[in-house]
Amino acid sequence: MPVVPATEEAIRQAARALANGGIVAFPTETVYGLGANALDARAVAKVFAAKERPRFNPLIVHIPDIASAETYGVLDATARGLAEAFWPGPLSLVLPQREGSGIADLVTAGLGTIALRAPNHKIAQALLAETRLPIAAPSANRSGRISPTTAAHVEAELGDIPAMILDGGPCQRGIESTVVSVAGHSPVLLRLGTVPRAAIEAVLGRAVPLAREDAPIASPGQLERHYAPDTPLRLGATDLHPGEALLAFGPNGPSGGVQTVNLSPSGDLEEAAANLFAGLRALDGAGASAIAVMPIPDHDLGEAINDRLRRAAKAR
Ligand code: TXA
Ligand code: MG
Repeated sequence: MPVVPATEEAIRQAARALANGGIVAFPTETVYGLGANALDARAVAKVFAAKERPRFNPLIVHIPDIASAETYGVLDATARGLAEAFWPGPLSLVLPQREGSGIADLVTAGLGTIALRAPNHKIAQALLAETRLPIAAPSANRSGRISPTTAAHVEAELGDIPAMILDGGPCQRGIESTVVSVAGHSPVLLRLGTVPRAAIEAVLGRAVPLAREDAPIASPGQLERHYAPDTPLRLGATDLHPGEALLAFGPNGPSGGVQTVNLSPSGDLEEAAANLFAGLRALDGAGASAIAVMPIPDHDLGEAINDRLRRAAKAR
């Protein structure tokens, strides 16, 4: 049984597994990651195999802090400002890769850039401290599926493929990190995520555009099929059709669905983000003809929530 409570002993064992080329699933504040030693190409290859992920899609490398980030990436003043404002936390920075730092090419897809993030989670940080290795970790789901926010989700997706699944309970934030590239001459948002765009713009004192989905290599992750339940989604629903399940938001939803999950009865966007993927999973298993999704306001975290919902609706 690969799911184990994340005790100190379990974290030591997980660190040993990573050092020996194994893969380990662990919690972060956003979603669970499927981790491998980023210096070990064979270990990283196992992650791609487990996810059935297209090889060209690069991975985020998890490090404890800014000092460690300097080992693998080159931080200019803009990058440093963002790291100081948001790390540890749910922001991934795409930086020019530091030459000779030993990161496996498979991690960066040979792009010459590297995505780095210092997670704000006790267990992730304890694992980083114990291994002292950079941990390449995509979300611990099969490619094109919903990201896992509990250890049970990881087990349902990947079974006993990881050597261990460290159980740290449900992820507090529930949506992946925001990805910002500071590798070009001006910062670009590559993926909407847990840090709202406005918070990044406030730190930088400038507008940060969202990369176009058809831009060549800027954001390979955006080309991937993503966040897909098997049941079709009907977005912006204000009523229910026969046979539908309901993903509700706020106090006033229609009633009578096959099953209902309310992302936040009080209409709180942070709560809704934290519940989004678990809610989609639960309704996907309800045997409904479709999942009707109530409108979610498109400001703050709502922007990332709506991004994930649009992808989930489009992916089929
Ligand atoms: O919250 C998160 O970010 C989670 C947890 C586990 O940390 N990780 C995660 O990783 O969502 P993943 O692999 O599912 O998403 C990585 C995203 C992809 O969209 C990928 O294309 C982008 O980051 N990315 C990684 N390296 C990049 C690079 N060098 N240039 C451009 N985009 C990059
Ligand atoms: Mg993912």
